[in-house]
Amino acid sequence: MAALAMALSCFIFLQILLLIAPTNAQGLKVGFYDKTCPKAELIAKNSVLDAMKKDPKLGAPLLRMFFHDCFVRGCDGSVLLELKNKQDEKNAAPNLSLRGFETIDNVKAALEKECPGVVSCSDVLALVTRDAVAALYGQSWGVETGRRDGKVTNINEALSNLPTPGDNITSLITQFQAKGLDKNDLVVLSGGHTIGHGHCPLILNRLYNFTGKGDSDPNLDPNYAAALRKKCKPTDTTTALEMDPGSFKTFDESYFKLVSQRRGLFQSDAALLDNQETKSYVLKQIKSSGSTFLKDFGVSMVNMGRIGVLTGQAGEVRKNCRNVN
Ligand code: HEM
Repeated sequence: MAALAMALSCFIFLQILLLIAPTNAQGLKVGFYDKTCPKAELIAKNSVLDAMKKDPKLGAPLLRMFFHDCFVRGCDGSVLLELKNKQDEKNAAPNLSLRGFETIDNVKAALEKECPGVVSCSDVLALVTRDAVAALYGQSWGVETGRRDGKVTNINEALSNLPTPGDNITSLITQFQAKGLDKNDLVVLSGGHTIGHGHCPLILNRLYNFTGKGDSDPNLDPNYAAALRKKCKPTDTTTALEMDPGSFKTFDESYFKLVSQRRGLFQSDAALLDNQETKSYVLKQIKSSGSTFLKDFGVSMVNMGRIGVLTGQAGEVRKNCRNVN
């Protein structure tokens, strides 16, 4: 009798394990829409590829948008919301250079046509980001879906939760840890700077007045600083610089070569050399034995995509990504 009870409880335990296995602890899983909207991932992919054909630079701002969504209130699509009084995340200074919102709207509209009220805006952003990176010769990854959308957006939360380009390594590690991400995620995800642009005003202090004595940042290669000074005059407020010159349209490991040569654009890029663990990752990526970055990036993106998610009955599935229902 006891043996039978034991066997039965083992069986039940196994069944429970099988039930929960494909889903992670937070209720996300790869293929969440397989039954409810089987074409969701294909529609999202085709839609973003169309948009990138017209505007090949779109991949970078979309990737940055996902990061900025996840670090503020978790990956809940709050970065997409708009308030009449403009006190929303979108209007926080670091988000003013985000773009690609129309692309998210178009993907969402196509999905609403196919299966109304099913696919959340936060998942649209996660899917679109993966497809944008893959389209730039990066490696694809399985995107966990099942997020629901938040109903709150607040300008001050964006200002206090997003790392700044002047952050040092201690601050970056602390901010990533606060989101459940470790040093490995920090250095891997910083590799997102292999694509896209940064603007002159953000590095003027590094070029012209680092310690208030008209000096430049000693952690910036002096030849590179001289080249950057030609592009960014001290009063420049608009010029966009390729963060990974010559390769800014290709999602590859060349960012790590730049950082190792003290040619990372921001102090936060240079800071990766100030910690043993992040530094050794940077140096590993430039060895001829082969970089692991492209594969690692997908893993860390999945980790980032889990930050503070709403699942189950929490939040809602917005009809329009810019407004709560
Ligand atoms: C580690 C902390 C980080 C800091 C301090 C930081 C800061 C910045 C800044 C200041 C810009 C330039 C914005 C502009 O001038 O328009 C930028 C651009 C960008 N960032 Fe980051 N970033 C960080 C991490 C990340 C992460 C984790 C990702 C994605 C995985 C990412 C992806 C990007 C991309 C793709 C761009 C280019 C955007 C474009 O071309 O429009 N960044 N970042």
